Amino acid sequence: MVPMATLSVLGCGYLGAVHAACMADLGHDVIGVDVLEEKVAQLNNGVPPFHEPGFSEVLARALDSGRLRFTTEISEVEGADMHFIAVGTPQRPDSYAADMTHVDAAVDALRPHLVPSAAGLLPVVVGKSTVPVGTAQRLADRIGDAGVLMWNPEFLREGFAVQDTVDPDRIVYGLPTKDPAAAKHARDSLSGVYQSMLERGIPLLEVDYATAELVKVAANSFLATKISFINAMAELCELTGADVTHLAEAIGHDDRIGPKFLRAGVGFGGGCLPKDIRAFMARADELGATQSLAFLREVDSINLRRREHVVALTVEGLGGDLYGKQITVLGAAFKPNSDDLRDSPALAIGSQLAGLGATVTFTDPAAGARLRVMRPDLRVADTIDEALQGADVVLLLTEWSEFSAIDPDHARTLVRRPWLIDGRNAVDVAAWRAAGWTVRALGRP
Ligand code: UGA
Repeated sequence: MVPMATLSVLGCGYLGAVHAACMADLGHDVIGVDVLEEKVAQLNNGVPPFHEPGFSEVLARALDSGRLRFTTEISEVEGADMHFIAVGTPQRPDSYAADMTHVDAAVDALRPHLVPSAAGLLPVVVGKSTVPVGTAQRLADRIGDAGVLMWNPEFLREGFAVQDTVDPDRIVYGLPTKDPAAAKHARDSLSGVYQSMLERGIPLLEVDYATAELVKVAANSFLATKISFINAMAELCELTGADVTHLAEAIGHDDRIGPKFLRAGVGFGGGCLPKDIRAFMARADELGATQSLAFLREVDSINLRRREHVVALTVEGLGGDLYGKQITVLGAAFKPNSDDLRDSPALAIGSQLAGLGATVTFTDPAAGARLRVMRPDLRVADTIDEALQGADVVLLLTEWSEFSAIDPDHARTLVRRPWLIDGRNAVDVAAWRAAGWTVRALGRP
């Protein structure tokens, strides 16, 4: 039997809202807190504020159980056994560093409400946000003797957020090193909350604060490096007539390398990898270790070059003049199964082409509504067929299965010129060419 705890989750974005609902689903009493009234109202009504497969079902179940609710009122968290910090740490507008204002504000708002539980135990504050190394110690000092701080980084992927929350690859506890009793209290409390997960044998690693913070950014840096590595190979393939998809498959058979995260294309985007590698570089600069992470600058450059490359290929293919040209962009979200537009390669490329004078029409199975609100200057079509009408070039920039399944014969009847740039290596190139399309697939002949 899972011991039931009372939990609060501060910040109800992709991370916090999913964490709150999943913890309630595990049997705990959970209150989610967010500063945005509209988001809180949506969540209380069982309406997910973002597209995340499986989330609406867990949310509905958790709300129906009576164990989950959301509020904007921080004082309502008083008396909870544990408080999870799940607010965002976006890139600062003026530098590469992480913007810590939300984390600091959450801890400051929480501090007066940290009171011992009914059993007289100190509340445990669990940091989940991705933060620069050194943050946990700074926050622990700020919390003082009102509670115990531990760091429990989150590794969830958008599109798989529910699965990754309840069935993660590993669980990491960053514990205070100077106070063994506090560390034991924190460890035992969180292990009680995660008991059903730990009983399934999910690996648990206990480390100090700094290691826990670094594990997260190291993992994202490694993933970003892997993607930029294969995209650098794509650049070489394009110059030599080689095929990067075959190259990736061949090197991926070596289990020291592995086949995952070797999909060449327009590169990585989203609210995590780009800003995390930049924040990591900024923190290394502060620590006097600029050289240690200098390679991440190259990882970032390779990634951004992929976007420029697609813009250049498009402009060149359209004869250098985009006025009066129709461009269809298949995809807007930074990856499929998400409506997240943060640092999306598809959006960046499409916007740039629109800025150069083309008429650009986006379509995306989930992100269309969000795109219309965020960028009213851009054209968004509801259906693929509508988006393809009269196109001089079609750019596939987010690999939704809906786009891979397009019938090239039918699509050809809609466009002005049957020309496709496959920025995600997502279509069957031979089938499209057989249907009369000129296809340019990144990193392939
Ligand atoms: C990433 C990490 O994968 C998670 O482990 C981490 O918890 C999360 O960031 C975070 O820090 O919160 P996410 O941003 O949801 O998750 O997306 P990924 O699946 O990592 O994809 C990131 C980008 O890389 C996408 O734009 C995707 O299209 C691109 N990508 C991925 C490639 O271009 N090629 C690949 O082979 C794989």
